[in-house]
Formats: sequence, C-alpha cells, structure tokens
Amino acid sequence: MSQGSLYLQDADQPFRFIPVQASTSAAHVDLLGTVLFGLSIVLTLVVAGLIAWFGIRYRAGSKVPRTGPITERKQTWAEAWFALGLLAVFMVFFVWGGQVMVELYRPPADAMTIDVVGKQWMWKLEHPDGAREINTLHVPTGRRIKLDITSQDVIHSFYIPAFRIKHDAVPGMHTVLWFEATEPGEYRMFCAEYCGTDHSRMRGRVVVMKPSDYADWLDANGHEIQPESMGRELFRTYGCSGCHMGKSSVHAPKLAGIYGRSVALADGTTVTVDEAYIRDAILQPNKQVAAGFAPIMPSFAGRISEGELQQIIAYIRALEPGDWATSGEGGDTP
Ligand code: CUA
Repeated sequence: MSQGSLYLQDADQPFRFIPVQASTSAAHVDLLGTVLFGLSIVLTLVVAGLIAWFGIRYRAGSKVPRTGPITERKQTWAEAWFALGLLAVFMVFFVWGGQVMVELYRPPADAMTIDVVGKQWMWKLEHPDGAREINTLHVPTGRRIKLDITSQDVIHSFYIPAFRIKHDAVPGMHTVLWFEATEPGEYRMFCAEYCGTDHSRMRGRVVVMKPSDYADWLDANGHEIQPESMGRELFRTYGCSGCHMGKSSVHAPKLAGIYGRSVALADGTTVTVDEAYIRDAILQPNKQVAAGFAPIMPSFAGRISEGELQQIIAYIRALEPGDWATSGEGGDTP
C-alpha cells in the first residue's frame, strides 16, 4: 500500500476467515493453526467415513463374514503401532507449538518497550520517551516492540488479531508480548477478557507507520502530549460524549464553549463554569444541577483518577462554542 494512506486493513472485509497478517510472527501462527485445523478435518472425515462404512457393511441381515477375531499377537502389534504413531504426531505438534509459543512470549533483547495498562474500560499506552496514548498505539514497521502489560483494576486481555498476539493484563503482574509490524496501516486492538459493563467498547487501533512517518509523529506528539488531547480520548472513553455532545439525544448540557460562562442552576442561583465547577459536576453531579436538566448523571467519584480529571477539564476548557456543531457523534472533533 502507498505511503501515508492509513486505513483499517480489514474494514472492507469484516468477516474474513482470519485477519490479515501484519507481523513477522503472524505467518508462523497461521501455519501451525492451519495444519492443526486441516488434520482435524482429515481425522473427522476418516472417523465419520468408517462409522458410515461399518454401519452399512455390518448392517442387520448383510451377508459379510463376522468370524475370525484377530489373534492376540496381531492385536498387540496393531495397538503398539497405533499408540506410537499417535505419539509421533502429537510430539510434532508439541515441539512445533512450543517453538511458536516461545517465539511469541520471548521478546528480543533489542526490542523497544511500550507500557500497556488496561483499565475499565480503556487501554493506556506509553512510549519509551514518555509519549502517551489512549486506545491508539502508533508503532513503526521493522522495529521489534516489546509490550509490558499490566492492569489497574480487573483482568483484561490485550489482543491484536492482525499480529496474532494476545495476553492477559493482570493487576499486580507484568506480562510480556512482542511483535514486529510489517505492513503500514491500521489494525484493530481489543480487550479479549470480559471485564465489566463496557468490555465490548474497550477497543482501539494500532497505527503502523513507516519509520520516517513514525519519527515525524513522535516529533509532533512525543515530548509532551497535551492534556486536552488525552482528555478528548477520556471524554469518549468514559462515555461523556454520549450525552454531552452536540447531537446527542439525551437531554444534557452541551459543553462546547461553556467554560468561563455563567450558567443558571436549578435552585435559582448562577455559577461560573470554572475548573472547580466542572470537577464537582463530574464527582458530585447532583450537587449543582444546571437549570432545566434532570439530575440523571451518574457520579464518577472513585471511577476516575485525579490525573484523568484534570485532562478532561483541560479538554472541556479548550472547547470552542462551534465545536461538534457539524459532527454527528463519536467525539472525533475537534
Ligand atoms: Cu477489558 Cu474486557
């Protein structure tokens, strides 16, 4: 594919039998899987065929010889060959599978480490130079990337199908995976372990870039990711965008351009929207309800960290009155 044209590689074929291969290990995993699958089909057909054949041949009333039991000696040999043959077949898969597993779970020494933290319900990723992302991972091609995976709360599972890698994210534990991406493009990232209400929304994308594009991206985003851009991701991840964006059907105050304005409250007083008010509104939403709105927002106290709170506030503060005016939903703008 051409440089710079990033797209979700499998978006046009959502029901592929297997995802595209986009890492150096993918073909190894697929070959093993395909051979195992093929062997299973062959064995299934053999067993089913024998059942059918015996069923027909020895059906009631058929005139076929039913005498002549095999001798004990012959039987011993048959059993020995059967057991040894099966052992040999399974040993092949044991050794082969072991090799692939060791390959997947043992990162090369020269790999670049990216920290992965799972949290209800998002993936937080941190690059070696401190660049941080949420639900999006930018990586270069041709570079071995080690993932140091852990969880902040419950057990999640970090899964990138196109790279054929998946590993649990366990609180208090660091698990390791690695990959080397081969094809620039965008690939899906999932949580593959049921982890609560929004498990199915705990997903993101991996953006694989040519090394030069990745260097440009790091230059632009690497040194210090702006708190408001982190806040924008959190705004969506925590579901704020579902009610508080322009075209939402839920009756909730729209937040674009609200910062610094004064709003009327249900109790007849007014308040100026500043950091303290937004913080209160998130942690104690029923304390100062805006006039004309029902007190239906849930509290986020205990669900959101202090750092995240500040990032969301920074995002709301940076919003302009016209933001979201043209976007439907999803929180992709501004
Ligand atoms: Cu995290 Cu499912």
